[in-house]
Amino acid sequence: MAIVIAVANQKGGVGKTTTTANLGPSLAKHGRRVLLIDMDPQGNLTSALGVSKVGADTVADALLDRHVRLPIVPISNGTGRVDLVPASLALAGAEAQLMNKLGREMRLRDQLAQLDSSYDYVLIDTPPSLGLLTINALVAAQRVLIPTEARFFSLQGLQMIEESIEEVLYLNPKLEVIGILLSKLDRRLREEKQVTEYLRERWGARVFATEIGTNSKILEAASTGKTVFGYPGAERAVEGYVRLAEEVLRRG
Ligand SMILES: Nc1ncnc2c1ncn2[C@@H]1O[C@H](COP(=O)(O)OP(=O)(O)OP(=O)(O)O)[C@@H](O)[C@H]1O
Ligand SMILES: [Mg+2]
Repeated sequence: MAIVIAVANQKGGVGKTTTTANLGPSLAKHGRRVLLIDMDPQGNLTSALGVSKVGADTVADALLDRHVRLPIVPISNGTGRVDLVPASLALAGAEAQLMNKLGREMRLRDQLAQLDSSYDYVLIDTPPSLGLLTINALVAAQRVLIPTEARFFSLQGLQMIEESIEEVLYLNPKLEVIGILLSKLDRRLREEKQVTEYLRERWGARVFATEIGTNSKILEAASTGKTVFGYPGAERAVEGYVRLAEEVLRRG
């Protein structure tokens, strides 16, 4: 059975998509078979991996109708096997329609159960809200990876995601935080240094030792539909995501 990790934080712009897009290929580089799922109607993960949002079958139909299989697109990324379940704006409509459906929180979990042993890791990118799409991801997952910025306002986001996890335990009692990731850290800023110290004191080993620094190559790669692997000049970012994957593998 695959290890399913939801990448979640209700706060926007903290690096959820960037982390999913680069951790996936990094796990593949370590020989794991990886499936990435875009559960955000913004479809940022889909674009970041160079898949066109127009015309692609998306996760939306499979959530609404259990007889429809999850659409799976292979991603060539130069590291190993990475597949993607793409998203488009249609997912926003699907979220509204799901409201009236039975088992609405369990739809993604049931779809993943049908994939059985095709993957070692499934990473789910979630939108910046605690709607049904994020809840579906948290119910389908065994682990949550929480990317965060090191700003005073980020602490609120962490508290919110902790409360959401607590709620989801009703439906998924085995859900655990795999780690909190400083995903776009600028250690030159005093606020970021202070918040990092506070986070490490407050959450201890729950915070990944690996820190991903702010790096223009990460942004450039995503905007051209590529991951940092094989992107010119992105060697430092690659090193960061390789170390993050090692920690994820150690934590299971
Ligand atoms: N380490 C980094 N260095 C530089 N830019 C980064 C880094 N991580 C993320 N970014 C940039 O920050 C922005 C927000 O990141 P991203 O889209 O991954 O966040 P998100 O949490 O998925 O946002 P949303 O909540 O809207 O889904 C993007 O433009 C991304 O390219
Ligand atoms: Mg995102």
